[in-house]
Amino acid sequence: MRQTERLAADAAGLARAADILRGGGLVAFPTETVYGLGADATDAEAVAGIYAAKERPSFNPLISHLDSFESARVQGLFDETATRLAQAFWPGPLTLVVPVAPTCTVSDLARAGLDSVGLRVPAHPLAHALLERTGRPVAAPSANRSGRISPTDADHVLGDLDGRIDAVLDGGAAQVGVESTIVSCLDGTPRLLRPGGIPREAIEALIGKKLEMGAETLGASPLAPGMLASHYAPRAQVRLNATGIRPGEAALLFGPGGAQGAETARATLNLSENGDLVEAAAHLFSYLRQLDASGAATIAVGPIPETGLGEAINDRLRRAAAER
Ligand code: TXA
Ligand code: MG
Repeated sequence: MRQTERLAADAAGLARAADILRGGGLVAFPTETVYGLGADATDAEAVAGIYAAKERPSFNPLISHLDSFESARVQGLFDETATRLAQAFWPGPLTLVVPVAPTCTVSDLARAGLDSVGLRVPAHPLAHALLERTGRPVAAPSANRSGRISPTDADHVLGDLDGRIDAVLDGGAAQVGVESTIVSCLDGTPRLLRPGGIPREAIEALIGKKLEMGAETLGASPLAPGMLASHYAPRAQVRLNATGIRPGEAALLFGPGGAQGAETARATLNLSENGDLVEAAAHLFSYLRQLDASGAATIAVGPIPETGLGEAINDRLRRAAAER
């Protein structure tokens, strides 16, 4: 249990909030849609803390928040439509899902292992000031516990997350009250992934055509088989609950003690030597990628507890194992 600070909407509160974020902590902050639970998006361990605080059982891709279109362009590739949407609706309640830029610093975990990134420049003056001072992309889902209602003021946030996060920046009531509209611009065709604060009609008026519906289920189950396959799935087979490693397999371990046969593995990585599930979650996607790159036909994964973030980690691993 940590002490959650309630920070005032002034220079001192903003400075403190930015310090906490830059130090890898969790700060809830107002946007014009709902309060977000923020963490440094470039720091996978900080991002894992979001899932732990929310008790989210699976890793959805998170939206990374930025202070300007210029900052967003460092993270993602904007085609002509994405550029027009950004110029028309940012800052504001619009999230754009675009391919990752080579200069992208958003962690694999915040992107749930995808090759795309969700970006938003919020209009709320406090959010803007905080993002400017933090100087990094800030990953932020709504600041509620999983399965509860999105918070539109600081009391809602504390009701759900008091003692589980470092601070809440109190900016009063959020204006819009529903989450941002999410549009993907990945293959030349913009698609509506989630209706939200910017009406579909406003977007269609700008692009001059009807918006196609995207894979709306991305929100519900972004890592479902098929959905993920086109973006990211390990090439290797995944073997779960491996108590021993067979020669030539790549090994993904958890906790102290190693595994039998690990010395003949093609490659071995340990998600967390200390058995820390937050650390393990932070490493999960990048370690899977690294082991896949080793060329092994199979990635053998040691047992991981089903408690805390272990539920989300195992959920992700089961999907990776079930895929083909
Ligand atoms: O209004 C909002 O959007 C609030 C405030 C805090 O900004 N944030 C919010 O975040 O609702 P979150 O994490 O609950 O929304 C994440 C959703 C995912 O479920 C998914 O639908 C979409 O954003 N998303 C993010 N990145 C994506 C990606 N790379 N590909 C597809 N969908 C993505
Ligand atoms: Mg939410």
